[in-house]
Order: sequence, then C-alpha cells, then structure tokens
Amino acid sequence: MSHLSDVTFHKKITGSPKIVVTVCSDDLTLPEALVDGRADLQAFFEKAAAAAKFDGTVGKTINIVTPGGTEFDRLIVLGSSSKDDKEALNWRNLGGQIMGHLSDDSASIVLGDLAAADMSLCAQGLYLRSYKFDKYKTKKDDSKSNAKPQKIGLVGDAALAAKKLWNDDRAVAEGTLFARNLVNEPANILTTTEFADRLKELKDLGVDVQVLDEKALAKIGMHALLGVGQGSAMPSKVVVMRWNGGKAKEQPLAFVGKGVVFDTGGISIKPAGGMEDMKGDMGGAAAVSGLMKALAGRKAKANVVGIVGLVENMPDGLAQRPGDIVTSLSGQTIEIINTDAEGRLVLGDLLWYTEDKFKPKFMINLATLTGAIIVALGHHHAGMFSNSDDLSEKLSKAGEASEELVWRMPLGKPYDKLINSRFADMKNTGGRWAGSVTAAQFLQRFVRDVDWAHLDIAGTAMGSPSTDISRSWGSGFGVALLNQLVLDQYES
Ligand code: BES
Ligand code: MN
Ligand code: ZN
Repeated sequence: MSHLSDVTFHKKITGSPKIVVTVCSDDLTLPEALVDGRADLQAFFEKAAAAAKFDGTVGKTINIVTPGGTEFDRLIVLGSSSKDDKEALNWRNLGGQIMGHLSDDSASIVLGDLAAADMSLCAQGLYLRSYKFDKYKTKKDDSKSNAKPQKIGLVGDAALAAKKLWNDDRAVAEGTLFARNLVNEPANILTTTEFADRLKELKDLGVDVQVLDEKALAKIGMHALLGVGQGSAMPSKVVVMRWNGGKAKEQPLAFVGKGVVFDTGGISIKPAGGMEDMKGDMGGAAAVSGLMKALAGRKAKANVVGIVGLVENMPDGLAQRPGDIVTSLSGQTIEIINTDAEGRLVLGDLLWYTEDKFKPKFMINLATLTGAIIVALGHHHAGMFSNSDDLSEKLSKAGEASEELVWRMPLGKPYDKLINSRFADMKNTGGRWAGSVTAAQFLQRFVRDVDWAHLDIAGTAMGSPSTDISRSWGSGFGVALLNQLVLDQYES
C-alpha cells in the first residue's frame, strides 16, 4: 500500500513547489499569502476564471498555467462557496478533492486565514485520499492519476496551531488506513495468525495485546466461536487489546469485532460469483483494531477494550454441519441451521465474554453480518441495533460528525421468536424475512445487563462507493465514527 508520507505546515510558501493549490469563494479573491509579492496573479486568475466560467462554488475547479516569472508552474483553485447552504463546507472532503487534483510534483496548498482545526482536517483529507492498496502490483503504473506528490505543505496563518492538532487527526487517519489494509488484504496472506501478529504491533503504541489460542478458548468455553473455525486449517484466535488512558478504576468502553478472515459459507457454501469479497468479512475486527491504533496514537483519555474473534469459515471433513447443536459460552445451546450464518456465532460468545469479564460502560460490536442490511440501507448507512436510546443517539451524532453514518433499525419480541429452535435454545437463522433484524436478535440473546449496540457494516466496510477521502475497496468504516464517539462523549 502507499500513501502520503506526511503533510507539513507553514506560514509562507516554502521550498519550490511546482504546483500551488488554493481555495476561494465566489468573490474570487485569492488568499493574501498567495498574491503578496505576486501583484499580477489576482488579475490573471480573474481573467482565467471568467474564461473558464469558474464561479468559486463548491465542486468547481480551475487548473491554470501561471504567467511567466511566477516560481510555480500551475495554480489550481477549488471553489469553496456553497450557493444555498453556507455550512456545507467540509475541509476533510476538500482536502480529499485537492489530493485528487495533484500529480507527482511537490505542492503547496495555500489556505490563508483558515482556522487551525480546518487546516488539520484538510490534511486528514489529503492523507486519507492518498491511500492506495497497490502492494501486489509488480508493474508501476505511472499514469498521472496514480502518481503521488513528493512533498505537500499546507500554508496558512494558523500553521503552528494546526500542526499540533494534526498529531491527533493524523493518528485517527492512520487508524483508518490500518483498517483499510486489513480489509483489502487477501485471505491467503491475512490468515488468523497473520492478523493476530499484526495486532501485536500495537504494543509499540502502548496497547496491551493478549492472544487467546484454541486451547484457551476451549477452556473458557467458546464453543459457538470454535465451531465456525473447525473446518479451517487456520487456528481460531481471539485477540484482546486494552488501552488504558483513563482513570485507574474507570470502567472501560468495549468494542467487539467480527473477524471472519474468509467466509465461504462453510458446508452451506456460498455461490461462486463475488465470493472473493468475503476476504473482507473481517471488517468489524479491522475497525476495532484501527480504532485501538487511533486511540493509542492520540493517547486518548479513556479506558478501552477491543476484542476481535478471528476465524475462517471453510467446508471440510471436520467442518460444522447444518443440524449440529453447539453449547455457547453463555450455556445457551444453538442449533446450526445454516453454516453461513457464522458471524453471530462468533459474536455471541465474544459479547458474553466481554460483558462478564470487563463489566464495560457499554459494548458496541461491529460486523459485516448480513447481506440483508445492504438490501435495506445500501452502502451509505451502517445498520444500528441497540437496547439503549442514549447510546443510539450518541452513535448517530458521532456518525454525523465523522460522516460515517448509522441508521437505527428495530428490535423486538416478534422478531426474537423467529429464532426459537425445535431442538435447542435457539437456531442461528430466522428465515427469509428481516434477516438483519433476526441476526441482531440472536446477538441480543448474549447481552444481559449493559448498554449495547450492534453495527451491521456489511454495506459500508467494503465495496462502498468512492468518496472524496477514499478510493479504497476496504473503507476503514467505523474507525472515525467510534473515535468521534469516544472523543466527544467519554474523554473529559
Ligand atoms: N458475511 C456474510 C454477510 C455479508 C454478505 C457481508 C455480503 C458482506 C457482503 C454473513 O456471514 C452471511 O453469510 N450472512 C448470511 C446469513 C444467512 C445465511 C442467514 C446472509 O446474509 O446471506
Ligand atoms: Mn456467512
Ligand atoms: Zn460472514
């Protein structure tokens, strides 16, 4: 993978960039820092703008060759005024847009009197957009759209303050890229063992990382989780990550992730078409891992536990069968109707374990759980199921602030009844209708007395549409959302 190595902050244009990028509103005034000492530039720009019908509104761009005598060759100006809604300007997205216009020359981005927080968000957008998962391309593609600038400097009055804020915003972006890498990585490389090994790297940031192997999991009693992995040559593992940045005795926040490194469906095997996407069935675990990296990277003042269940769902002589009955950690028995409804089996044990062992303030699980959530919400919202109005509201707010959106879905008795089993305490599928809800009901049977939310990210973690800040198949969805939740609600 590749991405910008860094972004630097300056009060004036430094070095000798080939390209200068700036942003202007519909009055077409270039920032002082840019026209200062380049008297002709403003007039030249206005002439070019008129010729190109560039009016300074959001989404419009003009890319001009500068007049002779200017130190840089190109000036790119992005519009920043919105005709109807002044608040619509989002500097993270603008940063992403700017990155989309840059080629492999060094560039200065002149932001004038922009506030420090927005400068740093702009840097975050540049950074996120620059990410590309190209590690398996042996031939370098040197077409312009793929080239990366050598150096990017952000120029603005608030450079000093922005540089400080960038420490934290960069940590969050790095968490997102960490998650994207995990999701994009194929399952022959990212085995359960490799995944666990990559999480051990978080120790360098001060995260406590414990890996539970199959022997330990059997001893604890996680037989629902172990049943999913029993047809795979790769060992099932649970990784517990702890970041203790809060007060010593403060209850932790808990995040739980589905980490099915590949989901063939098992004996209830999936059709061949598109099955390759199931390398991303660990998107929940990736988000939890990226979140831990982000929180540790910015030294969040909170105690947080991240738990991921790493398994591979394969058909095999030893694989679990439809009709099998397993005893979960909770003691409740589960009749396996469809071995492809495996994520809930992994999460059921993890949720029970998490509540029991860590007594968290809340637990939030993330999972690429159902195809049905894509039918319901497409790729623009994650499905949110919760037993708490308060936690739901906080998550919705964090979603809007981070632009990783969630939409609340229902839970209730009539849905719960659909997973009663003839032979065991419950079955692992609820029939044809409301597949995302019955999956959530299943999870709720493993939650006792704690605020809990389940985010079904099947539509948002992978294969989601390109945005200003992402061209990646694996989006890293969840890292920014949960970081925002922790930052706004639980650090004080
Ligand atoms: N990992 C899949 C869900 C999924 C589908 C994620 C498409 C991303 C894209 C999950 O394990 C699964 O197979 N769910 C089944 C449940 C069914 C068997 C009750 C589904 O959604 O079809
Ligand atoms: Mn499945
Ligand atoms: Zn799955």
